[in-house]
Amino acid sequence: MGAILLTGGLGFVGSHTGVELIKEGYDVIIVDNLSNSDMKTLDNIEKIAGKRPRFYEEDLCQEEGLEKVFLENKIESVIHFAGYKAVGESREKPLLYYKNNVLPALMLLEQMQKHGVKKFVFSSSAAVYGPDNDAPYTEDMPTGNCTNPYGKCKRIVEEICQDLSVAAPDMTFIILRYFNPTGAHESGLLGETFKSLPNSLMSYICKVALGECRYLSIFGNDYPTPDGTGIRDYVHVLDLATGHIKGLEYADKNRGCHIFNLGRGKAYSVLDLIKVFEQVNGIQIPYLFEARRPGDLALAYADCKKAKEVLGWVAEKDIESMCKDSWHWARTKWDIL
Ligand code: WQD
Repeated sequence: MGAILLTGGLGFVGSHTGVELIKEGYDVIIVDNLSNSDMKTLDNIEKIAGKRPRFYEEDLCQEEGLEKVFLENKIESVIHFAGYKAVGESREKPLLYYKNNVLPALMLLEQMQKHGVKKFVFSSSAAVYGPDNDAPYTEDMPTGNCTNPYGKCKRIVEEICQDLSVAAPDMTFIILRYFNPTGAHESGLLGETFKSLPNSLMSYICKVALGECRYLSIFGNDYPTPDGTGIRDYVHVLDLATGHIKGLEYADKNRGCHIFNLGRGKAYSVLDLIKVFEQVNGIQIPYLFEARRPGDLALAYADCKKAKEVLGWVAEKDIESMCKDSWHWARTKWDIL
């Protein structure tokens, strides 16, 4: 059995997946350029899982450094997490996103073909569904009319996987469309970190709870939703981690390109999430309604039937545990580096 290569494996979903893979007995290698993560996460992965993954500080766009990983290890599969994920930033810096979120996938797939690595799991996003589809989203819906370069980059890599699966029928591509990754490891040793400002709702709620922000800005309360605020499908990062393991197991027995929604199919508004966070953690979250954030959708949540029926994956952790684990992480190990 070869090793599983995690690109961006020190990131939010990557680090939690690395822990779960090691616990399942997989041999894990992490490549990360530390642009939005740090080595403390590798120490904490080792603390939780009891084994330190082999680590390479490499930029996936540098062919020589990337090939070294393939030459020095027998790699069985690749899970590609690496990429920038700030939707707003992608609008301000599209070239940075196209270069950093598309080119590395090409470099990686090229090395996989060169070294006979046949299984590729891609960290995609519900952002590919765009505004033309009505929630709950199903995997067979048309994608592409995304409202931001972040979503367009995810879709471009999905297209590359589709085309490559036709040209290389002996390869397997598992595309996992995350909805809203939230929560943290119950140990308080792993969670969402960032080197600039956070961009997720839960990160900002925790900043308010820590007293680092006086109030939460709620971007729009005039959406066509029950309470006027944006509705999303929050999914615990540990459930996402097990979704990747199910994807790898499916890739062992199947060829071709397969797409799966990783969500809970449950819709929570901004005000809903604030209410649950306040109840679970006993903390008031003051907020102010502000203008809508450009590109935001009113409603986005998953139809998760396919992941359940085909992968045997169902997200188990509820919104309460996401609020509890996020706050535990923010209180103990919040690394705004
Ligand atoms: C959620 C809701 C905001 C912050 C992102 C990206 C991408 C993807 C999923 C993985 C929206 C509102 C937010 C705040 C607010 N991840 N909000 N005040 O934009 O749904 O999607 O996460 O692929 O990273 O697509 O997530 O957490 O930014 O916003 O009112 O300070 O919270 O308007 O309704 P989003 P989000």
